[in-house]
Amino acid sequence: MEGEVRERRGDDAAKLSAAVHGGDEVEHDVLRTRHMLQHGEHASEGDAEVGHVIAMWITESLSHAVATFSSIAECQHLVERWKLVGRRKMRIHNSEKQHHHTLVSILLVQILLDATVIRRSWYIPSLSSRLEGKVALITGAASGIGEETVRLFAEHGALIVATDIQDEQGHRVAASIGSERVTYHHCDVRDENQVEETINFTLEKHGRIDVLFSNAGVIGSLSGILDLDLNEFDNTMATNVRGVAATIKHTARAMVAKSTRGSIICTTSVAATIGGTGPHGYTTSKHALLGLVKSACSELGAYGIRVNSISPFGVATPLACKAFNFEPEQVEANSCSQANLKGVVLKARHIAEAALFLASDDAAVYISGHNLVVDGGFSVVNRSYSFTPA
Ligand SMILES: NC(=O)c1ccc[n+]([C@@H]2O[C@H](COP(=O)([O-])OP(=O)(O)OC[C@H]3O[C@@H](n4cnc5c(N)ncnc54)[C@H](O)[C@@H]3O)[C@@H](O)[C@H]2O)c1
Repeated sequence: MEGEVRERRGDDAAKLSAAVHGGDEVEHDVLRTRHMLQHGEHASEGDAEVGHVIAMWITESLSHAVATFSSIAECQHLVERWKLVGRRKMRIHNSEKQHHHTLVSILLVQILLDATVIRRSWYIPSLSSRLEGKVALITGAASGIGEETVRLFAEHGALIVATDIQDEQGHRVAASIGSERVTYHHCDVRDENQVEETINFTLEKHGRIDVLFSNAGVIGSLSGILDLDLNEFDNTMATNVRGVAATIKHTARAMVAKSTRGSIICTTSVAATIGGTGPHGYTTSKHALLGLVKSACSELGAYGIRVNSISPFGVATPLACKAFNFEPEQVEANSCSQANLKGVVLKARHIAEAALFLASDDAAVYISGHNLVVDGGFSVVNRSYSFTPA
């Protein structure tokens, strides 16, 4: 009798592995199943024991998949296969007890998968929603780098308050994305009251601020130092330094008050570290801004707030086009000819992607006080004294 049962189980094992054998990717598990079924042969409780072993196998295998498969899609695919195998298994074994075991195992598999999906979406945001549920305030959002960042942050699930002084354009950007994601709000960063009011507006609307992208800036006139217009100089400093300081001050207050471990990102420039790449007021302002980023970083780290900057090389935005009276293609051609890294045309999107990296706390959680230079190596290479081929 015992020999008969063993023989039948051996047969079952062969049938089951044939059923599972449909897909190469589960071959490893077929061997495992065989082993467990062989183990089941030594049980003395009758056929139901095999069903129990199958249930154990399925749940164990899924745990293994959960631990080793990085993609939920892969897990789901495997579960579908296992469910199929489970149903086939029911046809192979037709005692009521075995049906029960198989159904229980399928249920367990589903519960485990659901738990995994929930756990993974909680801890590891998918690559396409890195700012899900975050509230971002962006200045200089009606055009160029700011506009592109609004679009990218919205794609990644952020709720955005987009601010600028170009109201018509700002409203257009917000409307093109959708009012459920983006709200336009007028804010001249040179006026501290407007900055404070904008922060309050954001808090009333969304209850918190997780990310500040303080990006508004002007280039000022291109006049030389001998003809420096100090009113123009003051305006550049008022926008690019004082304005950013005001946004950091009021946003950081809100973050501290709400215990938000936020991310503050400022747009500096390659002109923040080297002279001769921009007008005097502009270069002065961006150097000062870099100092402000480091200084704010030193104080706000205690609250878990990260402060970083991004230094772009030349991008064909209205700022660059107007300054040189160039068409976008001319700005790009000019940048490409000066660039160290060949074969890529720097776009506003590349800067927005750098901002996304610094904004999201899955990738940049320990990065603070950093100036992320997006210039293809321009600011660290000087070939004027070089003996290597250009
Ligand atoms: N384009 C480049 O080559 C380049 C290179 C390095 C750094 N940057 C920096 O990038 C940032 C964005 O500039 P961009 O190139 O996208 O130019 P842009 O002109 O397209 O955008 C700048 C935005 O800032 C807004 N702005 C100006 N003054 C403001 C104020 N007082 N209050 C609020 N908003 C104001 C403008 O209306 C505009 O929408 C700036 O800080 C700039 O200095 C640009």
